[in-house]
Amino acid sequence: MQQIRAIVGTQWGDEGKGKIVDFLAKEADVVVRAQGGNNAGHTVEAFGKVFKLHLIPSGILYKDKLNIIGNGVVIDPESLIQEIENLEKEGISTENLKISDRAHLVMPYHKILDEEQERLRGEESLGTTKRGIGPAYADKTERTNLRVCDMLDEEEFIQKLRNVYERKNQILTHVYHKTPMKFGELLEQFMKYGEILKPYIIDTIKLLNDSIKAGKKVLLEGAQATMLDLDYGTYPYVTSSHPTVGGFCIGAGIAPKYIQEVIGVVKAYTTRVGKGPFPTELLDEIGDNIREKGREYGTTTGRPRRCGWLDLVVVRYAVLINGIDKIALTKLDTLSGLPKIKVCRAYKYEGKILELFPASLRVAMECEPVYEEFEGWSEEEIKAAKEYDQLPRSAKRYIEFIEKETGAKVFLIGTGPAREDIIIKD
Ligand code: GDP
Ligand code: IMO
Ligand code: MG
Repeated sequence: MQQIRAIVGTQWGDEGKGKIVDFLAKEADVVVRAQGGNNAGHTVEAFGKVFKLHLIPSGILYKDKLNIIGNGVVIDPESLIQEIENLEKEGISTENLKISDRAHLVMPYHKILDEEQERLRGEESLGTTKRGIGPAYADKTERTNLRVCDMLDEEEFIQKLRNVYERKNQILTHVYHKTPMKFGELLEQFMKYGEILKPYIIDTIKLLNDSIKAGKKVLLEGAQATMLDLDYGTYPYVTSSHPTVGGFCIGAGIAPKYIQEVIGVVKAYTTRVGKGPFPTELLDEIGDNIREKGREYGTTTGRPRRCGWLDLVVVRYAVLINGIDKIALTKLDTLSGLPKIKVCRAYKYEGKILELFPASLRVAMECEPVYEEFEGWSEEEIKAAKEYDQLPRSAKRYIEFIEKETGAKVFLIGTGPAREDIIIKD
């Protein structure tokens, strides 16, 4: 394998990145999360158990892999401690977990503000995960946020909290009519978190770059996906980080020139949680059928995911932005049993054909997908296939069409949720 690989979501998230990272981690030494926070929910099924990871990289199930939470991640320490405890309880060691001292903190007021801002937006709400992600990144760019290293230095923490505390309390009480926070309680809470997390906290930039120099193999694990990117996604229905390869370099402290291979994770159909345009959405029985069969309910919030046909305008756009070399196609099994399967290869808008995703939300909402129709395949046919050649001809046609339209080769095919439900294609 290439020494440094990035794994990126190509749609609106939940493509199955966790499972693919877990699979590829077998051959890697280091797995890094570089952006997002516990808005992510990455599922890995292994040892007959289901693990739901939010902040911890999906390489954690292997004893000998280094797992890094990079500087670009926003960390809610309460949630992270909970996640560590849950894994330890399941017998999974977190000894090889390292947390960047530069990562930003999600503070309790960020969570309240996320919730209240959503409420105030009413009909216009974004459908966030309410984990405080947007407000935390907003404070980061506003240059008023607290960072992981501050939890290890009481004086520094007091000074930084003092700078924001009054203003946050005024917003909480005057704008949102909430009870004010107590300085002493916040301080005590975060000093305790600092104490618990101290063994994990280091300069991960040095650690990662030393590992690269020593020839270690690295996976950069994307959270969220290209269409949720602050710049490239369906703004404002996006997340507040850059879940694209450029964002991984910033969020891990790795120079772009080191990334040798980019893998795009593509679900065999499309899902989206939260609001925003979704040109191939199925609001009918087929959509419901896919939701039930694919168990399309949010890993983080439990919300039903909106389901629709595979949209190659979206995937083509993700290939372009991230420089995707290869595709890991997941959940092909979920489409089994459908007599006909549609794939969107372009949009039609005011008589024009669009092959890349438009900037305007109105255009995205009003455009009409141009579909190609494929014959379906049966559940048994997919389950029986252990190699590419054993897949039904109709499924191979579907895969070849994706390759032709996106210009990227499919090299992994997911045929079920478990670790071993995967086909490798050369
Ligand atoms: P992530 O956020 O991209 O890691 O994806 P999620 O974990 O939120 O959602 C993907 C869901 O699909 C999880 O429940 C996975 O266990 C499951 N999954 C992943 N790959 C496959 C596959 O090939 N087939 C089936 N049936 N399920 C899969
Ligand atoms: P993984 O890593 C799917 C969505 C939310 C909402 C928007 C903004 O599991 O693929 P936020 O809380 O980030 O401010 O919400 O982004 N969203 C995700 N959707 N998968 C995710 O992560 C997501 N993380 C955020 O539903 O529409
Ligand atoms: Mg998810």
